[in-house]
Amino acid sequence: MRILPEISRTFGEYLLVPNLTDETCTPDNVDLSAPVVRHRLGQASPIRIATPLTSAIMGAVSSPQLAIALAQVGGLSFIHQNQPIAEQAGMVSAVKKHKAGFRHNDVNIKPSATLGEADELLRSTGRDAAVVTDDGTPSGAFLGLITTQDFNFHRHHVGDSVESRMRGGAELVTGTAGMSLSTANSLLWDSRQDVLPLVGDDGRVTALVQRRDYELHKQFSNESVDDDKQFRVGAGVNTHDYRERIPALVEAGADVLCLDSSDGYSVWQKNVLEFVRTEYGDTVRIGAGNVVDARGFDYLADAGADFVKVGIGGGSICITRDQKGIGRGQASALAEIVTARDAYAQRTGEYVPLCSDGGVLHDSHMAIAFAFGADFLMLGRYFARFTESPAPLVKVRGQALKEYWGEGSARARNAARYGQGTELHFEEGVDGYVPFAGSLYDNVKVTLAKLRSTMISCGSTTLRRFHETATLVQVSQQTFVQNSEDIERNERPTVG
Ligand code: IMP
Repeated sequence: MRILPEISRTFGEYLLVPNLTDETCTPDNVDLSAPVVRHRLGQASPIRIATPLTSAIMGAVSSPQLAIALAQVGGLSFIHQNQPIAEQAGMVSAVKKHKAGFRHNDVNIKPSATLGEADELLRSTGRDAAVVTDDGTPSGAFLGLITTQDFNFHRHHVGDSVESRMRGGAELVTGTAGMSLSTANSLLWDSRQDVLPLVGDDGRVTALVQRRDYELHKQFSNESVDDDKQFRVGAGVNTHDYRERIPALVEAGADVLCLDSSDGYSVWQKNVLEFVRTEYGDTVRIGAGNVVDARGFDYLADAGADFVKVGIGGGSICITRDQKGIGRGQASALAEIVTARDAYAQRTGEYVPLCSDGGVLHDSHMAIAFAFGADFLMLGRYFARFTESPAPLVKVRGQALKEYWGEGSARARNAARYGQGTELHFEEGVDGYVPFAGSLYDNVKVTLAKLRSTMISCGSTTLRRFHETATLVQVSQQTFVQNSEDIERNERPTVG
């Protein structure tokens, strides 16, 4: 038996003490880009992301729609592996085939629905327009569009039908399936519409081009794309069916794979890493984990992992620590493994990036994770709250919530992730809700603005320098209580 001398600490136990801010420290100068995969010291990583955020390998989080939105803002998603191989490969290929600037037709309504229902649909999805189809599904025949500008409850009754206010197909300019983005954008501007539906020969809408996306596209110049300008996407794999799953994901175009396990310090992970190196050399990139100490990092780095994922028990939906008594505070785990990463780089000349996975409860925790030396983060709860996540949006006691369930919950039944054989004997995660927060685009923008601002206060314009120069201080419980305990918050909307 061995007892580690230090207490296990988490992000919320630290604050940053500002360093000198000089004239180079402006938001525009802050570079948040991060390496994702192993590279020689002094050389660039073959995969870098401009926004150092990745979405968790979870059914409630990483869908093609979320993956596309996240790649647009410079991050990366990992499509979950707790599904049949063909379905996961299909999701990967949907992201790779998605043409930038085009949107899936995923918000549909029937002409007989009420304006009240249309309003609810547009609000809950954060969209300005819904496609009206004969059966209200994406595969139904195209009938028209209903947008937020088509009705107003001061003038129209909530019970009126969508049909009474929609603009029918004959009134609208439409594009054809397969047309180029520049042609579609020209049509959009000429038509003065906000949305251009692209309609196939069979009368079904294949995609949409939106004026708002054109603006967004200009705003996010840092998209995560490969050499062919296709969006980058990652995919989870397990240590069971990897001989079949990995070739299918590679064929579908996955840019990077990641072993998905609650405890990655195992010979099974080493076997998978060896399989990848034997079959593909360095042409397939794969991360491994999760680990919480230097032994785990060294084992996986020596076995060839392209990045190592850190974190056991810190996830918002995680009950592993209660159920099995294993885990470690995320801050302590990172502190030890960052030292191991840097020692490994000195020893071998190879830099193996670290992904800090789970336990980010506030945006400020992201800054703390980077200050500790994480290269990029993996987030579940954060992304589950957004319009683009695949989980259902529900109303509970009048509050809009998104469902969010752990991969170790009975709902996910992801026995492979939890080393419980083919059956899940006990739960390691909860099935719950998170407050709906609106669109990924809006939220990521605010989060990154906060991160830049923190880095500026700490006198840094790169994540590397931020980590190297950060001054952290441990705080008492009282620190957070003290300065807010007698303030009643008002309900006015905040900025951002
Ligand atoms: P969050 O960002 O705090 O919500 O944590 C997300 C992370 O929790 C994921 O990336 C996984 O590593 C981990 N996780 C996902 N599902 C479960 C579960 O059911 N039990 C324990 N950990 C989980």
